[in-house]
Amino acid sequence: MLPEHESLPTYTLSQLALRNGAEKPEIWCAYQGIIYNVSKSRLWRNGQHYEHWAGQDLSEELEDAPHTARVFDKFEAVGRLIEPVKEDENE
Ligand code: HEM
Repeated sequence: MLPEHESLPTYTLSQLALRNGAEKPEIWCAYQGIIYNVSKSRLWRNGQHYEHWAGQDLSEELEDAPHTARVFDKFEAVGRLIEPVKEDENE
């Protein structure tokens, strides 16, 4: 993780899911633990980008893209994605 990302607020997958272009006005997607705000992108209008939807962790889906993760460079990193701790992991 880049040092500048360490101080970002954290969000869970369900909080990220609300930023899918339908529930809330923001359009966010996560890549390798970092959440990017792609609301301004014409290519992510309504939270849809080709066959991909915002509000999710799209790390694995980037493998199918005709571009690299450099596409995120011009978008603001707004948070870090954290997994909620499952009960059985506390035992
Ligand atoms: C079938 C899969 C995909 C196709 C065909 C596709 C196609 C494209 C094209 C043509 C562009 C604009 C040109 C460029 O920057 O290369 C673009 C930009 C972008 N893509 Fe994808 N993409 C795909 C998957 C993904 C995935 C999975 C993500 C997220 C992990 C993603 C994130 C982005 C972002 C953030 C941009 C920049 C948008 C902008 O500059 O407004 N793409 N994509």
